[in-house]
Amino acid sequence: MFDRVAPRYDFLNRLLSGGRDKAWRRVLTRQVARRRPARLLDLATGSGEVLRALREAGALADPRSGIGADFCLPMLEEARAKGIGPLVLADGLRLPFADGSFDAVTIAFGFRNLEDRAAGLREIHRVLEPGGVLYILEFSHPWAVLAPFYFFYLRHLLPGIAGRVGAPREAYAYLGDSIRAFPSQSRLAALLRECGFAEVAWRNLTAGVVALHEARK
Ligand SMILES: C[S@@+](CC[C@H](N)C(=O)[O-])C[C@H]1O[C@@H](n2cnc3c(N)ncnc32)[C@H](O)[C@@H]1O
Repeated sequence: MFDRVAPRYDFLNRLLSGGRDKAWRRVLTRQVARRRPARLLDLATGSGEVLRALREAGALADPRSGIGADFCLPMLEEARAKGIGPLVLADGLRLPFADGSFDAVTIAFGFRNLEDRAAGLREIHRVLEPGGVLYILEFSHPWAVLAPFYFFYLRHLLPGIAGRVGAPREAYAYLGDSIRAFPSQSRLAALLRECGFAEVAWRNLTAGVVALHEARK
C-alpha cells in the first residue's frame, strides 16, 4: 500500500490534514529537543519528514546523527531524494540493531500500521538503552463531542477526496478504518506498560485527533 502512496505522500499529508501534519511533527520535535539524544532511530521513517524536522530544529545532539528505518523502499527513496539519511530498509518487528543501540526512538504515524503492536513495542524496547525514551506520534481518538463528525469525515469523505486528487482510495479507506480500530490514548499507555515501559505519559494534539505518547525503558 505504501509503495503506491509514496510518490505523492508528502503532498497528500499536507492536503488531507489541512497542513496540520507539520505542526504535529513540530510538537514531537520540541519534545525530543528537551533531551537532545545522541543516538536516535526514527522508525517507520517513510519520506523522512521527522528526521528532517529534528535536524532543522537542532533537536539532536549531533545534527548529522539519527537513522531512519522503514520496510517500504519507495518511501525511503522519497527520503533519499530529499537528501535525508542514513536510511535502513528494515521491518520494525525485526530490527537489525543490537540491544541498547539507541537513546531515543521516534515513530510518527507508523505505529498504527504494525501488524503486531506488542511485538513492535518489545522490539523497540530491546534496541533502546536503559533510560532511553520512545516517542509515538499517532492518530488517536478525538474528544467525544467531535468523534461522530471526525469518523464520518474519515469514512465517507476522506477516501473520495483522496481519490479525486489521484491517490489510491483504498489506502485512505484503510487509514480511516485503522484509526477507528486503534487503541485509545489510555489503552495505548496500558500496552506500553505491559511491554515493559515506565513513566508513560501522553498529550493530545488538535483535540485528540493526534496524540503524542512518551515512555521510558
Ligand atoms: C504513514 S507513514 C509515516 C511516515 C513518517 N513517519 C511520517 O511522519 O510521515 C507510515 C510508514 O510506516 C511504514 N511501516 C509500516 N509498517 C512497518 C514495519 N513493520 N516496519 C517498518 N516500517 C513500517 C510504512 O512503510 C510507511 O512508510
